[in-house]
Parts: sequence; structure tokens; C-alpha cells
Amino acid sequence: MTAPLRPAALAFDAIASRFDERFGAWLSVAAQRRAVRSALLETFPKGGHILELGGGTGEDAAFLAQREYRVHLTDPSPTMVELAKTKLEMLGGYGEVLAAEEVESFAIRHLCGGGEQFDGAFSNFAPLNCVSNLAPVARGLARLLKPGASAMLVLFGTCCPGEMVVETLRGRPRQMLRRRKRGEAPARLGKREFTVVYHRRAEIVRTFAPWFSLNRRLGIGVAVPPSAAEPWISCQPKLLAGMEAFDRAAAALLAGLGDHILYQFSRNDESL
Ligand SMILES: C[S@@+](CC[C@H](N)C(=O)[O-])C[C@H]1O[C@@H](n2cnc3c(N)ncnc32)[C@H](O)[C@@H]1O
Repeated sequence: MTAPLRPAALAFDAIASRFDERFGAWLSVAAQRRAVRSALLETFPKGGHILELGGGTGEDAAFLAQREYRVHLTDPSPTMVELAKTKLEMLGGYGEVLAAEEVESFAIRHLCGGGEQFDGAFSNFAPLNCVSNLAPVARGLARLLKPGASAMLVLFGTCCPGEMVVETLRGRPRQMLRRRKRGEAPARLGKREFTVVYHRRAEIVRTFAPWFSLNRRLGIGVAVPPSAAEPWISCQPKLLAGMEAFDRAAAALLAGLGDHILYQFSRNDESL
């Protein structure tokens, strides 16, 4: 018997068929995605076997597979995974329905079944904010990654001036400080309710510390605004290009101010 879908997975499943059309058209999303992809290419060994958590419709997995990486995409939304599989099947990638909370049991199954450890793992655009407790994710990735391999985890930033400006201009003051909330915060998508957690740096680093060292943090969307600025910002391509150039220069220095933050961890030699 398959387990019922969690609320976040149900919400994303409901919008999966419209996801690429909606977010793919937005230039701010494309700019943030370029920043993440450039860090992935810089970090993952060429031709490596890469695990993705919360891979959605497979945009990044297909990008990597086109560059000769072998990608194993996971996501808890069956419709997202179906869409991803159609992109990946000609490219030799693989898609599987799996929530990040289940990655430890996946690790045991994968390794006991003779599967090899991965050369890297990533999660882009906040799937891990749908997970309240990151400890099972850290333990699962610790089992699955080779020593020295990188986990590139992109979560929501918790102090995003870009969002504060946009929400003030839109007259939505309550949205301005939503990321300051501790614990589970309500979220809504496709008329469905679920919760997200704005994980803090200290908590993330502490949770991964037994098996991972933090190499760097990059701000993704420091000047490039969050999607709340859409569709307006997509009509300002020159301004956006300037913001993207600023972010390329300031991503490490101003990491804490990003719409998203990329945490680059490397697996150390500590055994589980
Ligand atoms: C904003 S989308 C990002 C999708 C994809 N990474 C991208 O960059 O387009 C968030 C994704 O997280 C997935 N998700 C929701 N809950 C999750 C969980 N508990 N574990 C892993 N992924 C989850 C959703 O199904 C959705 O595909």
C-alpha cells in the first residue's frame, strides 16, 4: 500500500501540469536558476552520478543530464515525477516518487540492492522548506554520498530585503516579515494549505554537522527579486541583467540576504 501524500506534495501535485508554463516564463526565476546551475557545474565532478531531492518537473535534472551527468531525480508529487520522466527518458536520467523525509530508507534500499554511493546531491528552490525536521535528510544523505562529495541545498533565505520592498510596494505588510516566523508557517498553493519552515543557518549547520562540513553559502536572488515581483520584473530585462551581475559579484558576501540560500556541504569521513 502506498502512503498518502503529505499536504505539500498534494499542493505541488495540483499545480504540476502548470508549473513550467508559469515559472518558466519568469525571468527572475531563470536568473536565480542560472546562479544555482553555475554552482552545480562548478562543484559536481564531470559525468558524476547525482541525486536530486524535490526535483519537480526535472528542469535542472534535464540540464545536468544534457551535460553528461547521470541524474536520479526524486520528488513526492507523482505528477511532477511523471513530467520529469518525460524530459529525462531520452537523456538517461531516472525519476522516482520519494519525499526527502524518506531518503534514509531509500539509502538503505539503494545500497543493500547493490547501488553505488552518489558523487553529489542537490535540492533547488526550497523543497527542504517543506520538511520540518532535517535530521533524517542529513542522515540519509550521509549514507548516500561518497566521502568528499557535495550536497548543494537551496533553501529559502530568512531575511530577504528584496521581498520586503516588493511586499511593501504591493501593500501586503504582513507578508513582509513572514520569513522571520519560527517553526511551521502556513503556506497556500493551488488552493491547498500546507506548512513550510524557514530553517535558520545555525540549525541547518548543526543538523548536518555530524557528517558534513559547510564549505560556503551563496545568496541566490540578493538583488534579483523573488517571484513576488513578477510579472513586473520580467518586463524590465535591462534592470534584471544589472541585478544578476550584482548577484554574481556579491553572492558569497551577502549570502544571508538572498531570496534563496545555497548551502554547499561536503561529506566528511565520519561514519554513521
Ligand atoms: C518550488 S518546487 C521546486 C522544484 C524544482 N526543484 C525546481 O527547481 O523547479 C518545490 C518542490 O518540492 C517538492 N516537495 C514538496 N514537499 C517535499 C518533501 N517533503 N520532500 C521533497 N520535496 C518536496 C514539491 O513537490 C515541488 O516539486
